[in-house]
Amino acid sequence: MDKSIYLKRKEEILRRMQEDSLDALVIPAGADISYLTGFTGEAGVAVVVLSPEGSSFVTDSRYTTQVAEETGGYECVLWQKGTHSYCENAGMVLAKLAPKTVGIYGADLTYKDFLGMQERYPQGEYKEAPAYLTEMRAKKTPEELATIREACRISMLSFYALLDHIRPGVTEKDVADQLEYEFRSHGGSGMCFDTIVASGPVNGACPHASVSDRVIQKDDFVTIDFGTRYHGYCSDITRTVCVGKGADAELYHIFDVVTEAKKAGQEALHAGLTKKELHEAIEAPIKAAGYVTPHGFGHSFGLDIHELPFINGNDETPYEAGTITTIEPGIYVPGLGGVRQEDDYLICDGGYERLTFITDHLIEL
Ligand code: GLY
Ligand code: MN
Repeated sequence: MDKSIYLKRKEEILRRMQEDSLDALVIPAGADISYLTGFTGEAGVAVVVLSPEGSSFVTDSRYTTQVAEETGGYECVLWQKGTHSYCENAGMVLAKLAPKTVGIYGADLTYKDFLGMQERYPQGEYKEAPAYLTEMRAKKTPEELATIREACRISMLSFYALLDHIRPGVTEKDVADQLEYEFRSHGGSGMCFDTIVASGPVNGACPHASVSDRVIQKDDFVTIDFGTRYHGYCSDITRTVCVGKGADAELYHIFDVVTEAKKAGQEALHAGLTKKELHEAIEAPIKAAGYVTPHGFGHSFGLDIHELPFINGNDETPYEAGTITTIEPGIYVPGLGGVRQEDDYLICDGGYERLTFITDHLIEL
């Protein structure tokens, strides 16, 4: 992406820090740092210190070239011999800047890291910073949306290519491995979360079952929850397929209920809808059929697979145009199996754009 996007993001945060009387901000979280600076290195190898007097990118010498290539407007500060953490090095940056108030951003800082920073700069008045980046990341830019659409497209193509490999006799692990291969061969960069392949009456009834060596049987329902990453951005799809045409009648019924619930959520989508209203729209067909879903009905995503906002029956705040959400109802019956269907949507003024569109009909293999 064009570096000016990152400079604008930094300016916006510096502006908000001034409003909140924060003289410096310490950001230790991976995806937040990528969003703010354009750095594409892995999480946990950097801490950013923002201040009106100058901003620093604290990392180690493995990343010097990458920081110079990818970021702009930061002094690259390298890990000093004899120190124990990036945060301790960030504390040394603070000691030079001498800010009165220091905001600590996000949830990725351990107590030990905090003590290391504080030891280097005990004069700081430390406080938790407002959720500046979380708020900015919730509303996607046109460039981010184009990247997410491509991640979704690669995930869909990969899934269709996978279908030929799902048959009685293969294991859940075989299916997950093949899907990862398909992601890479279609242009994605691997999985953006551990693929779920949950088959049959036991694993299929666990919403987030771990992939196992279970051999898929004829007439199994198999739930596959998957997504690849493209240029850092995620996608998130679930489809339950049937490996045959002779499954238990209740599973077909559950499939219809889940499909109706996803459609009800989809039809309700528009900017201004509250998270509670969306929750209720999805829940209504499931409740009417006498079932419950033991997990949330969806979430946003971007650089991370789970980002705010979440669909939430207690949240009466409205969606803004430009927000991404999944819709992912599921029903699970121990001893019988389960069904989950999940698609990705962009919420717009007056409606939505569906970003993933694998068929809503039951895929029978
Ligand atoms: N697709 C995994 C999840 O949403 O938890
Ligand atoms: Mn999801």
